[in-house]
Amino acid sequence: MRVQLSFGAIVLALVGCSLHATEGAGRNGAFIGYHESEARREVTLAAQPKPGPFRVKISSSYGEFIIKLRPDLAPDTCTLVWELAQKGSCASCKFYRHEPVPMEWGKDGFFGPPYALLQGSLADLARQPPFENKGTSVKKGHICMIPNCKEFFIATADHSEWGQSHTVWGEVEDLSAEPNYPFEPFHSNTHDNITTRWLDNTYAFNITAIEPVPLGAGSSGGSGAGLALNKA
Ligand SMILES: *[C@@H]1O[C@H](CO)[C@@H](O)[C@H](O)[C@H]1NC(C)=O
Ligand SMILES: *[C@@H]1O[C@H](CO)[C@@H](O)[C@H](O)[C@H]1NC(C)=O
Repeated sequence: MRVQLSFGAIVLALVGCSLHATEGAGRNGAFIGYHESEARREVTLAAQPKPGPFRVKISSSYGEFIIKLRPDLAPDTCTLVWELAQKGSCASCKFYRHEPVPMEWGKDGFFGPPYALLQGSLADLARQPPFENKGTSVKKGHICMIPNCKEFFIATADHSEWGQSHTVWGEVEDLSAEPNYPFEPFHSNTHDNITTRWLDNTYAFNITAIEPVPLGAGSSGGSGAGLALNKA
C-alpha cells in the first residue's frame, strides 16, 4: 500500500513561485557586455577561498540539529531557509508531530504507522518554497519540505515508500538530539485508513545560520558565498 501523509495533498501541483537565483558576475558580464569593473570583480571573487558547506542550526532546550544545506538538490528552498536563518528569529517555528520508528520498519513493505519523523513548521519563511526534486528519495537524516506549504520534517528512517514526493533540502549531521524531543502526549488522527500522531503541545525552536568556513585558501573555482549557495 502506498502510504500518504494526511496533511495536504501529496499530488504535486508544480506552481511557479520559483525564486530567481542571483546571477553571477561572469554571467552578467556575458549578457550585458564587457565592463572593466565586472572583470575586476571576477578576479576578486576567484581569488577568494571556496566556502565550505552552508549550515543552519535548529535549537531548543531539547537539543540541537546542525543541518548541512543541499542547494545542489533544492536551490530555491535552501535560499529561503538561509534567508530565514540569517534573520535569527522565527517566532512561528515549532515542532508539532513526532512519530517513532516502529519495529520491523521496511520489512515486508511495512512502513508504519507510526511514521518515523519529526515534523514542524517554518511558517516565517518569506514565501512558500517551490517543489524541488529531480529524483532524490528520502533517507534517514534528510530534512524535507512538504509540497505546497511551509511545513517540513526530519526523516528518522529511510522513506523509500514516499518516492520523490518531497523537497529534500538538507542533511542533519547528527540525529542524537532527536529522541530528546517529546513523543507524547499525542492524539491520533485516522483518515483513509492512515493513522497519524500529532503532539498535544507544540515545541518552539530557533533556526540560525552558521556562516561557511572557507575550505582553505588557494582552492580553485572559488566564488562569493551567495553564488556558491545557488550553484554549489
Ligand atoms: C530563541 O532565541 C531567542 C533569542 O535568543 C530566545 O529568547 C528564545 O528562548 C529562543 N527560543 C528557543 C525555543 O530556544
Ligand atoms: C481500511 O482497512 C480495512 C481493513 O484493513 C479495509 O477493509 C478497508 O477497505 C480499508 N478502507 C480504505 C478506505 O482503504
